[in-house]
Amino acid sequence: MDRIEWDQSLSVGIELIDEQHRMLISRLDDLSKALEQHQEGALVLKTLDFLSKYTIFHFSEEENKMKESGYPHYEEHHRLHQEFIDKLKEMERDFDEDGITRALGESVNTFLWNWLVNHIREVDTRFGSYLNSKK
Ligand code: FEO
Repeated sequence: MDRIEWDQSLSVGIELIDEQHRMLISRLDDLSKALEQHQEGALVLKTLDFLSKYTIFHFSEEENKMKESGYPHYEEHHRLHQEFIDKLKEMERDFDEDGITRALGESVNTFLWNWLVNHIREVDTRFGSYLNSKK
């Protein structure tokens, strides 16, 4: 998948979550660029670490809203978040062992981008609709 920028088609209808998604997409874009531009390993690691920390922060915030609102699909949504976190951890381990590789770049440009965009469009949007229906 080509990298994307956040636009209204990715809105889940909740301003705080949209704002965090903008940041998440921006961080993932930073990582893609760092890899494409063959930046130094230390900078790639810092970018990967920042993405990982921001992802955990965002998922935690979103899940807290699910628990507070009694969202019925919380468990399934949490499991999907964990899948993404596990992939990021695996990438960090691979980076520690092998440095910057073609496989790392492909993981970012295929799995992470596809996962994130599909997740926002399909899974987060369902949660956004649920929250809005409770207003
Ligand atoms: Fe915005 Fe479910 O992650």
